Order: sequence, then structure tokens, then C-alpha cells
Amino acid sequence: MAKRERDSYWNGINIIGGPGWGDEGKGRYVDFASQSIDMNIRYNGGGNAGHTVVNDLGEFKFHILPSTSVNPEVVSVIAGTVIVDPIQAATEIRNLQARGIDVKLLMDSNAHMAMPWHKALDGLKEALRGNGKIGTTGQGIGPTIAQRASRSGLRTGDLLSPNFETMFHQELAEQQSTRRQIAFELLLRDFNIESLTAEQLQSLFQEANQQYYDPKQILKDLYEARETLAPYIANVLPTIWSYEQDKDKNILGESAQGALLDLDLGGYPYVTSSNPGVAGFIKATAIDRRRINRVIGVTKAYTTRVGEGPMPTEQNDDIGHYLQEVGQEIGTTTGRSRRCGWLDIPAMRYGAKVLGADAIVISKLDVLDQLPYLKICTAYEIDGQMYNTLPNPNALQRAIPHYEIVEGWQRDTSQTETYEALPQNARHYVARVEKLMDKRVDMVSVGQHRNATLSR
Ligand code: IMP
Repeated sequence: MAKRERDSYWNGINIIGGPGWGDEGKGRYVDFASQSIDMNIRYNGGGNAGHTVVNDLGEFKFHILPSTSVNPEVVSVIAGTVIVDPIQAATEIRNLQARGIDVKLLMDSNAHMAMPWHKALDGLKEALRGNGKIGTTGQGIGPTIAQRASRSGLRTGDLLSPNFETMFHQELAEQQSTRRQIAFELLLRDFNIESLTAEQLQSLFQEANQQYYDPKQILKDLYEARETLAPYIANVLPTIWSYEQDKDKNILGESAQGALLDLDLGGYPYVTSSNPGVAGFIKATAIDRRRINRVIGVTKAYTTRVGEGPMPTEQNDDIGHYLQEVGQEIGTTTGRSRRCGWLDIPAMRYGAKVLGADAIVISKLDVLDQLPYLKICTAYEIDGQMYNTLPNPNALQRAIPHYEIVEGWQRDTSQTETYEALPQNARHYVARVEKLMDKRVDMVSVGQHRNATLSR
């Protein structure tokens, strides 16, 4: 790894998040920042995230671990608000160790654990929603956070308890009864309940009662995971607060998903179950908002969305296919194709507000290299009125996009080393985004590698 040269841009406390629907390339910017920071805190989401990092050590994909975990000079923290799949987390740690990396991680003992039953429940609930499904990643995020809110479930700290096995069995019994009810409901939907005989009902009940998972195997996997995780599980707040007080320590907040998926301010119900914006960071850390220097909103040079829910600029044509293919828009967690379209400024202006963004950075500018022209959605028409932002998250369903067309640059930018060396039309595109977003664009990236980041 190259010697650390601290860039003053990252001084103090900064946050990297997304003003869109996630998958903006936050991981690469977190990795870029990692040379200049002392602590990085992952503060929301869980295994639904997929952050990719490419640097001199190779390529890494993280779901639970912070994107700085390859860098032993940074304390990587998983806050108590993150949903931890312990088996996945242990696998990620072991993978790093197998590559010779000394993992410097702190995982909060308050973080709730996503278990196989949460994933099964996620799938059953989606099936129950039928056409109204959300398109979740199936990682059990909603069901685990629902349990956290109802003050039950297992947390990473419980793994260390001598009573863990008893807690596990109590939890399993509760979860099996919930799952059975939902499975039964799902099966019943295909029948007219009035006309079912007692035997038929009994047989459906037995079908719903079948085991979806093997408790013995889960317990064995958890014990294995515990061996790997135990040295990292701690109460993280005192360490976070001591870094907050030390003016020489640079802290980063790493968000997962995007602000348009915010549980409370996003387009419900097509949202995730956490708060990807600055509010989520504060909720996780109680760090003073006034101490946060900058919230950086990462956006792709175009728009993508994965899962269900409205997306006004989606292109189901050659352009959509081009962006999908050239941008390799396949979900890191689910392998699903992402929906692609033109850059959607009104949605992003709303998302930037929810995120609390002070500045914007643009990823994947090079994906647009071959296009002769580009469209930017500058406004929405909603119920006959024009808006330059989304007036409220539920209006997205009715938004008709209005576009501005700009010339493309049709030149390979992937080897560009400075912002000034980008083609003029590419710089014009960036300047246009800056103006329309009314936020400074601080950096752009033209490739996956850390070095393909160009500061302005
Ligand atoms: P969940 O977070 O798995 O419950 O999924 C809820 C919605 O958020 C679905 O539309 C998912 O596709 C979307 N989502 C969740 N995590 C991500 C992510 O990391 N990137 C993009 N979309 C996500």
C-alpha cells in the first residue's frame, strides 16, 4: 500500500453517503479517503449493502465490514445501528485475514444480528405482498430492524454470553411461530377458507410448519463465527467519543444505501429500514452535528435503482441497456440487474436534502464516454405543476421528467489523470450538474481503481 499522504480535505469529521437509490460508488470514495482518516464508522443498513473497493492490494467486496477494513491504519467501526449477519461478517474477516490483512475492527455489541429466520421471513413477507412487493435484497433487514424496534432479538454482544445457547433456542421458538403464521397465511390465500375441510386445514398447517432451516447447523455456524468475531465485539461509543474530542483525529461516516431509500423520508414503502443520511450517523454515534465538516453525496453520472418503486428517468431502451452493460450495473449483493436511466436532478435534490449533503462527487463518468448526447432531467411535472425538486416523496409516482440535452464527448476518459485533462464536454456536464444541484462538485471518478479519482 502506498505511503499515507493525508489530504486536508478529510480533516475533522466527514460523511460519505448517497443522495439517490444507493449503489453510487460510495465504497471507492471511502477507500480514497482512507489514506487521510483515523476512524471510519459504518452506521446503517447491513448485509443489503455491497461496497466495492479496488486499490493496490486488489479488489474487495464488503457487505457488513466498513470499506476501510483493508487498511490497518484506520479503526473501522460497525456501529450498534448496523444489522450484522454474523456468519457473513466472520466470512468477510476471514477472507481478509487469508489475504494477509491485519483487520482493525470494532463491532458494537448492541448491533442486532440478522439470522437465517429473518431472511426466510423477508422472503415470505415479500411473497405475501404479491404485486405490491418492495423488491428487498432478502437479507432480513426489515424483519431484524422490526425486532430491534420491538426490543427483542439477538445482538452481537449476546454471542459472548455464557447463556447464548438458551437465548438462541428461545429466539428460535418465537421466530418459528411467527414464520409459521405467515407461511400459513400465504398458503391459505390460494383457497377459500370456508370450503376447506378440517383435514385440508391440518395439512396446510403442517406444510407451513415445515423446517426452513436446521437449528443445529445454525448454532454450529454461529459458534464458528463467534470465534472469529469475539476479539472485535465491544462497546464502541467510548472510542468514538474519544476520537471526536481529539482535534487531530479524522473521522469518516460511511453510509450504506441512498437517501431516497430512507425509511422515514424516502418513498415509502419502497424504502429500506434505516436512515442513510446524516440523521442516521448522529443516531448511531451521538456525534455533535456542529462538528461535522462536510456531508459528501456520491452520485453516479447517471441514475440507477434496484428493486421496485417509481423511477421517472428509467430508460427501457438502447440507452438503458448501454448504461447497464457498460456500467456493469448488476447488484453486488443480489446479482439483480439494476434499472438504469438519465441523471435525475429533482430526485437527487430531494435526496441531497435528506442526506444533509454539502458537496457532491460524481462516480462512473467514464461510463458515458461513448454516448453522442446526454439527457439530464432538470424538472418534474407533477399534477400540471413544474418542480425542480421532489415536493414530497410520494409524488414520485406521478412525476413526468423534463429533460435538457447536452453534447457527449465520445472520448475515452478512463486514463485521465487530472480534472483539467477531461474533455471539455465532460467538464461542461459536471459544471451543469453542479449548477442544477446547487452544490459544489468536489471530485469525479473515471474508473474503479482508487487512482482514478480526480479532484477539482
Ligand atoms: P432491503 O433493504 O433489503 O429491505 O430492501 C429495500 C429496498 O432497498 C429494495 O428496493 C432494495 O433493492 C433497496 N436496497 C437495499 N439495499 C440497497 C443497496 O445497498 N443498494 C441499492 N438498493 C438497495
